[in-house]
Amino acid sequence: MPATSSSPAYTLAHSKDAPLDPPPLHTRLREEQPITRVSLHDGRRHPWLVTRWEDARTVLGSPAFSTDITLPNAPIVREGQPRGPLGFFQGYDDPIHATMRRTLTREFMVKRVNALRPGIARLTEELLTDMTKHNGPVDFVEHFSLPLPSLVICELLGVPYEDHGFFQEQSGIIVNVKATGEEAARAITTLGEYLVELVRAKRATPGDDVLTRLAAQADEGIISDQDAADLGSFLLFAGHETTANMIALSTITLLQNPDQIPYLLGGPEQATASVEELLRYLSVVHFGLRRTALEDVTVGDVTIPKGDGVIISLSVANRDPEFYTAADDLDLARANARQHLAFGYGIHQCLGQPLARAELQIVMPELFRRLPDLKIAVPPEEIAFKQNTSVYGVLELPVTW
Ligand code: HEM
Repeated sequence: MPATSSSPAYTLAHSKDAPLDPPPLHTRLREEQPITRVSLHDGRRHPWLVTRWEDARTVLGSPAFSTDITLPNAPIVREGQPRGPLGFFQGYDDPIHATMRRTLTREFMVKRVNALRPGIARLTEELLTDMTKHNGPVDFVEHFSLPLPSLVICELLGVPYEDHGFFQEQSGIIVNVKATGEEAARAITTLGEYLVELVRAKRATPGDDVLTRLAAQADEGIISDQDAADLGSFLLFAGHETTANMIALSTITLLQNPDQIPYLLGGPEQATASVEELLRYLSVVHFGLRRTALEDVTVGDVTIPKGDGVIISLSVANRDPEFYTAADDLDLARANARQHLAFGYGIHQCLGQPLARAELQIVMPELFRRLPDLKIAVPPEEIAFKQNTSVYGVLELPVTW
């Protein structure tokens, strides 16, 4: 099929009646044309949209697709969007990607992540205590779902306790869609400079943390201090808003499906299963993953020509009725939920997923155990869902308990 300006315009618009479901355009295309061209905002690019679970895995698992957004037809969202410094290895293919990813793989091994669990439980407890000191409705996003992942990343990186307030403030500006581009850019620079200083300070006062170990890799000449700081920023960007939105949207989802809360509270195994189903059901990376074909590749019954851009819509792939029974229903006990693609698939599959899972497995049951009367303080139609952001979520969520 040739590139055509009559291809459906790519949009992330949600249905007002079903804001937790994937964008309706994506669902319709999965049923009618599971691999088809769409037009991006500039009207010049016509990447393919891949919407079925099976096809999404094929594309994401294939070395014939690149994540390099500097390729001419890469489905970029904004003009001039930078690929980012060396640390942002998600935008590189192997072997550069593999070399950079290797500097961090040990940090997300089960043993390391398990060592972070008591800290996550403590932070959950402290934030809930602080939140419930207020009377009346408070914004759950500001008081709980946004600060929690930011503070967990502080622990992961080894940000000293006295700097937590500063770190949280700057990272809050970066992910705040209400901040101006200038404010966000200033916060990125400020945090970047802070992290380079912190990498250097770790040599004098080492800790059991990521930046200390990255400083050691810099001493061995594997990376530079700047790379170490960039990797720290990358972890913050990759792990902050994604996890924060998962916490907020999971809370809304569970409050709308209260019959499922007892399953979540049924013990660690049930909490683990519940988190997989919430990840599948919500698939917060709504823009989809972006790739460019490096050669002609046949996926399903379509041949994607070399050089064409591709967007893989995780949110509809994870609701594919050919793979999941009653795919649009939330079923915390669903047996095959863990095969979801919410963390991607293939060489770029989310590096931080063991940490994200640990956070959600601790936070979600604790929230409903501690606040059994938790309620959203506005009518459902007034919940401020984000529109057209790559990670789906809510701008704010007033709650009472
Ligand atoms: C629920 C929370 C999260 C979700 C839904 C999520 C989702 C994703 C997805 C879909 C990708 C694949 C990108 C692609 O293939 O183009 C990815 C990559 C990545 N994520 Fe996550 N993520 C989450 C939390 C985290 C956390 C907590 C961290 C670390 C602190 C993290 C670090 C990364 C990194 C480093 C990559 C790049 C991997 C690579 O290119 O090799 N993520 N994430």
